[in-house]
Amino acid sequence: MPDQRCRVAVLASGRGSNFKAIAGACRDENFPARVICLITDNPAAPALELAADDGIESFTVPVTEKKGRLPEADELKIVDICEKRGVDLIVLAGFMRILKGPLLDRFEGRIMNIHPTLLPSFKGLHGVRQALEYGAKVSGCTVHFVDRTVDGGAIILQAAVPVDDDDDENSLLQKVNKEEHRIYVEAVELFATGRLLQEGRRVRILGNDFSRKG
Ligand code: GRF
Repeated sequence: MPDQRCRVAVLASGRGSNFKAIAGACRDENFPARVICLITDNPAAPALELAADDGIESFTVPVTEKKGRLPEADELKIVDICEKRGVDLIVLAGFMRILKGPLLDRFEGRIMNIHPTLLPSFKGLHGVRQALEYGAKVSGCTVHFVDRTVDGGAIILQAAVPVDDDDDENSLLQKVNKEEHRIYVEAVELFATGRLLQEGRRVRILGNDFSRKG
């Protein structure tokens, strides 16, 4: 019987711990999604090795600019890879590029990102450091849909972690990462089972009874 599960492409530039968590969950054939490919802009990304270990097809999209926004030609290459493989969901997992072009035109509402703070606080590259320096007592992570803003799309799931007095950037990041791996897998599962309903900025999770009656 053909595998009908939701087809996921992961875009990652670095370590790939979120990629690993999602690929790990997808190894269970009862999980409603599977990772079709890994796409990176960094030929030295450790995530590439993880993909190879898992037998997941991977692509390094040639980088034609150093940082920031992905050049349109490269975005088009990613669109092509995803469309040819019938990808349903694109998951950004530490992908250090801004998407604004063709990927969003074709996949808007089907691209997720994870950010290591409780958005909308501490957007941008050094969110964990900013939360610490600001003196936040609680931080966390956010899975959100990607739109044309930076870290500004509709929020899907969040998890909080305490900021302890002796935390440094590294220890706080470790706590945040642990929660990231949990909620990113959950968000993929919710998407794959059609349980995310976006209404403007709000994303409702269908099938959850949050009513507090009586
Ligand atoms: C995560 O902390 C995520 O929030 C941010 O980039 C980091 C990626 O980590 N967007 P990894 O490569 O998944 O380990």
